[in-house]
Amino acid sequence: MNTSRADFIRSQSTAALDTFFHVRPVTDVPRVGPEALYLQGLTQEALFTCYHDVLEAMEWLHGQGARSWCDLGCGIGRTALLWAWLFSDGEGQGVEMVPERLEEARGSARAMPLPNTRWVEGDFAAPGLALPAADVYFLYLSTGPALDALLDKLKKRARPAWVVVVESHGDLKPRLQWESWWLTSHPQRFALQSRRHDPWVGLYQVRTMHPALRLEQEWEGRMGLLPEDLARHPSPLGYLLGKSFRRHWELVIAEGEKLWTMETLGLAWHDAESVQGESPRRQVSWREGGVGLRRVPSEAAYQELAHWRRSGLPLEYRRSDGQSGLRVQLRKIYIAPEIAYEFSDGRVVAGRDLEYLRPAL
Ligand SMILES: C[S@@+](CC[C@H](N)C(=O)[O-])C[C@H]1O[C@@H](n2cnc3c(N)ncnc32)[C@H](O)[C@@H]1O
Repeated sequence: MNTSRADFIRSQSTAALDTFFHVRPVTDVPRVGPEALYLQGLTQEALFTCYHDVLEAMEWLHGQGARSWCDLGCGIGRTALLWAWLFSDGEGQGVEMVPERLEEARGSARAMPLPNTRWVEGDFAAPGLALPAADVYFLYLSTGPALDALLDKLKKRARPAWVVVVESHGDLKPRLQWESWWLTSHPQRFALQSRRHDPWVGLYQVRTMHPALRLEQEWEGRMGLLPEDLARHPSPLGYLLGKSFRRHWELVIAEGEKLWTMETLGLAWHDAESVQGESPRRQVSWREGGVGLRRVPSEAAYQELAHWRRSGLPLEYRRSDGQSGLRVQLRKIYIAPEIAYEFSDGRVVAGRDLEYLRPAL
């Protein structure tokens, strides 16, 4: 470790270091795209990690034997450039899908020059993109489907690795807490210099070959899981939360003899025992009666019901005994022991008693 290089970094401002590394903190990119890419309107402080925030963690990790650093969603490449410059025996890598940002990193690597860098332009969540091999993965990202896909890739790695995270919105570390069976938090603490939601750099270690991985692989092609299947997982709630950005899964919840369904989309949690869904808005304890999981059936009739339940569309129904409901919303869909619907008027109506159920005029 070259301490004079680390001291040089400490002595400089972030702006001076950008000049030193030949990068411009490109914030606005004249394009529309997914929100997670933060294409416009963010300050450079919000978008990029400053060199000083990761310096200490880098020195410590290098001391632990880590040699390659990979920033997943590397922006203009600050952290990977810093690692490559600090450690001549190291390699700095970055994956980024906004080319305007990645070009800054590439330009820096040419100008410095830093031949011990490697850049991948692409979507780290894409099934076809294998994560570059590295000893350390760095994340400064918000939660979302891309993060879930990334975590899935990280946990399947065969080699142990470090994961270093900086919290931005206060949602990343709580999300990672549910992955603690394979992503164990390390007690070493490094304070951030920037003002962030959480003042500490998060340091984790990937545990490989955990038996739950085999369990999850076994489940991948399944149409559904019974409560007793889910109970075999060390973090059933974490497993379910991994589906909270997906529309084609739903929970199957036992209520006495009855079973009703709840979309996994928008699933949130309050404590280790319970989850709260959006469609319908209910909180359930996954331990109590049992919570299973299934793929949303592909039949058009069920898909339509699920759409009504999600959108809160005003509906009208008429039962064969003449009782009717006007401008009600569909709450619960019961799937056993018989098909039935709970509406916002408080009634539960069996499917076989319905003359019609349709959008209200
Ligand atoms: C908050 S910035 C962090 C930048 C950099 N890691 C840092 O700390 O300075 C997140 C970056 O991830 C990129 N990004 C978001 N989703 C991505 C994805 N699925 N694949 C590749 N890059 C992604 C964004 O374009 C953005 O540059």
